Amino acid sequence: MKKLKIGICGWGNVATGLFNTIKNNNDKIRLNGNLDIEIVVIGARRDNPKCNPGDIKIERDIFDVIDNEIDVVVELIGGVEVARDLILKAIKNKKHVVTANKAVIFHHGDEIFNEASANGVKVLFESSVCAGTPIIKLLTEELSANNVTKIAGMLNGTSNFILSNMEEGADFKPILELAQKEGYAEPDPTFDIEGMDAAHKIGILSSLAFGTPLPPGDFYVEGISKIEKIDFKYAKEMGYTVKHLAVCKNNEDKIELRAHPVLIKDNSYLANLKSVRNGIEVETDLLGTLHIAGSGAGQESTASGVVSDLVHLANSNINISKSTKKNKCDLIDFLSLSFQYYFYIKAEDIPGVMASITSMFAEKGVGIESIVQKEDLKENMVPIVLITDPFIESDHKDLVTNILNLDSVNEVRSIRIETD
Ligand code: HSE
Repeated sequence: MKKLKIGICGWGNVATGLFNTIKNNNDKIRLNGNLDIEIVVIGARRDNPKCNPGDIKIERDIFDVIDNEIDVVVELIGGVEVARDLILKAIKNKKHVVTANKAVIFHHGDEIFNEASANGVKVLFESSVCAGTPIIKLLTEELSANNVTKIAGMLNGTSNFILSNMEEGADFKPILELAQKEGYAEPDPTFDIEGMDAAHKIGILSSLAFGTPLPPGDFYVEGISKIEKIDFKYAKEMGYTVKHLAVCKNNEDKIELRAHPVLIKDNSYLANLKSVRNGIEVETDLLGTLHIAGSGAGQESTASGVVSDLVHLANSNINISKSTKKNKCDLIDFLSLSFQYYFYIKAEDIPGVMASITSMFAEKGVGIESIVQKEDLKENMVPIVLITDPFIESDHKDLVTNILNLDSVNEVRSIRIETD
């Protein structure tokens, strides 16, 4: 049986989850993974009252973990710059690295992989995307014979947890607090609800599938913080639900990369994944569309991904942490894409209001597929819900401004519709 001596850097939710998983599932890991994992040292700036590490050595300076007799540094401190320094120091000291940190791989992946390759060690990061739900090794190993053309997924567990609870009538704020309590959300949940976490993850997947650099260039990112409960009701009436979707796609000679809320058909595969689940669709030439789903956040799910990296390190020579496949780097201009849109417009209930709103769409040459005036709100206001025909993204901002400039309108919300 193979043996790996590891040092864990970090002693928070994810690190203690890994500790407990290795302790409790050791027999399974030995049997299935042919691997005996020994935790030699833990880098913990402070004790964690929720977990007793027993007699395992503790380093208060996480950088000192690297100086111990270990094969692998498991980086679970999160953040970007200190994590980068820690990983680079580990690599220079000829230690393999396993990390769950999507932000550091997104921002410094190419530098880290080049350094690893120069030093003859590996950096594995399965749990950086979708926690333990396997996608990194699936893309790099199992699909090696395939031409991947598109990846679309719900990559942020917290967002899906919030959205699927809002769909059932819950309010945003208490559900976000519950996601934090359950250990799904990032220490700064802005990353979850404003789309950055999903953006980091799709950036990593795009790099693996299409060779875009890490970091990639700027791309469109929007979170779920502006979605309202009523949007689910109106979406449902039209056969849709609201999800947060991240997409990378090989679009002729450029790569389409984006992460934002969407309306998707409520009978689709992704629409039916609720709670903290992540779901990904991978379009390939040999397998057709592949569907992957599982828990995308939380300490147990993340521990599953970290252990899979340790098993891979011990048993496989395939190196997934290489940054050599940099053939296509240009990102498509988001403003050149076209989308159908859902619009929620809160307007005064006065004669001619519909006509003035529809004239704004007509002015921009945007067709309307359906338009309905919904039940009255307070103070003589009325919601108008419409679905547009597809139109170019570069017209969207002006269109919203023009509608908001109408005296009779005091609120406009719009969500793109994902059609394929
Ligand atoms: N905060 C992340 C999420 C954790 O909610 O998906 C897993 O990366």
